[in-house]
Amino acid sequence: FKSEITIDATQKGQEISPLQYGQFIEHLGRAINGGIYDEHSKLSDSNGFRMDVLEKVKELRTPLLRYPGGTFTKIYHWQDGIGPKASRKKRKNLIWGGVEDNHFGTAEFIAYCRKIGAEPFLVVNMATGTPEEAANWVEYCNGTTDTYYANLRRKDGFEEPFNVKYWGIGNEEGAEPDMGRHQDLDVYIKDTWQFVKMMKLQDSSLKLVLVGNSEDLHWSRTVLERLGPVCDYLSIHLYSIPADTSFSSLIQSIDHIERPLTQVDSLLAATPVKVENFSRWYRFPARSGPIKIAVDEWGIWDINSGKGKGAYNLEYQYNWSHALGVATFLNLFQRHSRSIGMATWAQTVNVLAPIMSDSAGSYRQTIFAPLKAFRDYAGQYNLPTQTTTHESSPGIRAIDAASSRSADSNQIILTIVNRDLDHAAEAIVHVKDQQRNQQRVTLKQISYTGKSLYGVNSATNENTVIKTEIKKNVDPASFRIVLSPASFTVIMLN
Ligand code: AHR
Repeated sequence: FKSEITIDATQKGQEISPLQYGQFIEHLGRAINGGIYDEHSKLSDSNGFRMDVLEKVKELRTPLLRYPGGTFTKIYHWQDGIGPKASRKKRKNLIWGGVEDNHFGTAEFIAYCRKIGAEPFLVVNMATGTPEEAANWVEYCNGTTDTYYANLRRKDGFEEPFNVKYWGIGNEEGAEPDMGRHQDLDVYIKDTWQFVKMMKLQDSSLKLVLVGNSEDLHWSRTVLERLGPVCDYLSIHLYSIPADTSFSSLIQSIDHIERPLTQVDSLLAATPVKVENFSRWYRFPARSGPIKIAVDEWGIWDINSGKGKGAYNLEYQYNWSHALGVATFLNLFQRHSRSIGMATWAQTVNVLAPIMSDSAGSYRQTIFAPLKAFRDYAGQYNLPTQTTTHESSPGIRAIDAASSRSADSNQIILTIVNRDLDHAAEAIVHVKDQQRNQQRVTLKQISYTGKSLYGVNSATNENTVIKTEIKKNVDPASFRIVLSPASFTVIMLN
């Protein structure tokens, strides 16, 4: 089987937001307590951060960390998570079960972000919280005046503001279960507007993520029309939920995400960027740049595998097929980088996670490999890429590809998933590029394969994913590569 991939490198390409490679943590099961945080473990530092886990999270090089939920935000009151730990209130986690002792709260989250080099992204409670409570959190985090909440932060030992720039207002607000109370879109819009005003009056520089919906375009369109002047990012959640445990249904569930993503892209493109007369009425500026999509939760809920453990059975063991799914997802996001401003994988440790831990240690799951590979190797500008390929099974394109260039234009990077489980794929790649015309270039091919399609890593065996590298010289105008069955490959041309 022969595929052809044509890359147009004659143009600069579309900038890929670095925030596309974000992560999410939530007070859900063992994601935070018993995951990234455990005050009683010998493996933790004096902050209570599990050091073995921290090292692995650092390897993921995430630029953005979203917290504290998720659905959990609907019952979260930030003041429970500040001040001396011994006096913090214990609460039932009414959403996900168990008891939340709130020992990991705002300051611990900020400290964690600083340790991993990520921008903090906080989500406020608009279900059982108030606009005033949210605005007070903004003052606690970012305030510089001699006022109550900024002083409370100082009293807690933090003289300097935390400078949290990214704030989500609510989460999946149209959803009815649990504490949801915004099924009426009009109520949601009016409430959000009140949150926006209160929060922006505290700090007008905030970048706001408002709740959209990739399945309910009427909802998203109305948010853009009525809240567009203050909406920096429109949040959508994109989970793959395969219909059954077969590889084709996993890949189809991810390929099908192209449709809602394209529809939301089109909605954004149809929304005017200019905001007229805003400053006449409001004492904070309107949004400046274009509205972008925040895929602030994405991932794979393999609910039909029946193998999840822990709270809500969300502790999955991801196998090699899931890693190929993650690489496919990341190619999809890269191709949509014109409209995606941020994306945060849900989640980070134990729950729907690339990293698993128990009291004895931690390990990387198979999906860790593609998450890390894109962060390590993908370029900063997406290049138009055309692929012709065969169907490896009904409805599944064998080859899924995206390409990018580095910021200095010295490197072209191709990320390719061969979703054909039975055949190696031969691909002829053509790079249209004046800079490299008629020169031979160095090609580095980094290939990732799994020991078996359903192979998983475990605490005692982290070797399911096999990484190999080759180097050769090629003519970029047309060269041949071979991709192993069920593989993910990064090609770098220098
Ligand atoms: O990531 C787990 C949950 O999935 C989040 O809390 C919720 O927003 C989503 O439905």
